[in-house]
Amino acid sequence: MVDFALTFPAGFLWGAATSAHQVEGGNTNNNWAAWEQTPGHIFQNQTAGQACDWWNGRYVEDFDRAAGMHHNAHRFSVEWSRIEPERGKFDSAALDQYARMIAALRERGIEPLVTLHHFTDPLWIEALGGWTNPETVRRFERFVRLIVEELGHAVTLWCTINEPMIYATYGYLLGRWPPGQKNLRQTFQVIEHLLRGHAAAYHAIKTLRPEAQVGFTKHQISLITRRPTLIHIPARNLIRQIFNRAFIEALMTGTLRLPFHKVDVPEARDSVDWIGLDYYYRMLVGFNPLYPRQLFIQQTRPRRGILGPESVGEIWPEGLYEQLRWLGERTQKPLYVTENGVPDADDALRPLFLVRSIRSLWQTVNYNYLVRGYFFWTLVDNFEWAEGYDPRFRFGLYGCDPETQARTPRRSAELYGEICAANALTADMVRRYVPDAMDELFPDVDVPQEVTLPARA
Ligand code: BGC
Repeated sequence: MVDFALTFPAGFLWGAATSAHQVEGGNTNNNWAAWEQTPGHIFQNQTAGQACDWWNGRYVEDFDRAAGMHHNAHRFSVEWSRIEPERGKFDSAALDQYARMIAALRERGIEPLVTLHHFTDPLWIEALGGWTNPETVRRFERFVRLIVEELGHAVTLWCTINEPMIYATYGYLLGRWPPGQKNLRQTFQVIEHLLRGHAAAYHAIKTLRPEAQVGFTKHQISLITRRPTLIHIPARNLIRQIFNRAFIEALMTGTLRLPFHKVDVPEARDSVDWIGLDYYYRMLVGFNPLYPRQLFIQQTRPRRGILGPESVGEIWPEGLYEQLRWLGERTQKPLYVTENGVPDADDALRPLFLVRSIRSLWQTVNYNYLVRGYFFWTLVDNFEWAEGYDPRFRFGLYGCDPETQARTPRRSAELYGEICAANALTADMVRRYVPDAMDELFPDVDVPQEVTLPARA
């Protein structure tokens, strides 16, 4: 059997991604901590609690685990409510803690990618109307400036805002996350202000640190239509335009185009050095007259393919190529996969998911899209927002018991560690971790070795 290595360019970044509220623990000062107090908001009325106990210093051992898996990069976020617990009051001890975390990564040869907003807001920001309030843009910018003044010497890669469309739709359209609104007008307002917040942060960082590389992360969903397709295609196109494309288009053109909400945001134009793709699922989309609040669009889970927990879409790793290709073609910017993962406590799906995802990523690289790195979601099991610590929503390379804090490596941690160390996915890895998938995934590998050349005339 022929061997192969799907090798990545030298200097490719390999790591995992985390976010502050999901791993730090012990925060009572942001909108999520407050939201978690109300029964019915989180799986089994749980709270983030101690999460992975990073704020007490357990990040050190988890960074050792990342280094042990040969990660050369790590994406994490700083928590606004810790840095600015009250309006205009800044906590230097919290800044010192983040400085120590960055230093700990660097000591291990791990490049930090720092996210400045990952779903949570300080309570005082929420009390002032959160991101429906246009003033939040300037307040966020002031926080960003402080962070970059204090930590900017040690960080090159910045992510302004994580998944603006998820933040806006879950919090303001579907009402599943704080502040629990179901209001299309507010949803569009929030999207606009997040766009302005991103642009303000971008310009602030570049003014302070021209060498910084500043991007943001965009959650993209692969979308297929129901039959009969002619009715459903317009619905698919509309949701694709709103959810997957409008924010990116605004960064390219300086105009945000949403239904009934078109606004020029000139400062957003070209305010991005790279784009981060967060990719998880494929959904089935269709027109449904019973969904007026959601523009008559209904999303459901496809019936075939790899299906995880019911509330999420089909697990279709090859969508990575589809999404990176669109982002690359539309923006011509360097790309990172800033999140990609699968909920799978038993690690029954994850090794195959990894192999298929990395194969898809390699395909993208080989079509010369400028993909610079890959961050797996996530390093250790953590607080999964409304799903809390639901065993069906464990995303870690390492398991983590939130009661005992005990970590257990999953087999995927070994596989991913090998991929990171080799800067490649090899035939040998596929054979050892997912032997049954070899023939289907790499059918051309089994070609006969002996080739008989035609006799010369
Ligand atoms: C978010 C993460 C979350 C992950 C898995 C992403 O949309 O950025 O915070 O844990 O999905 O659901």
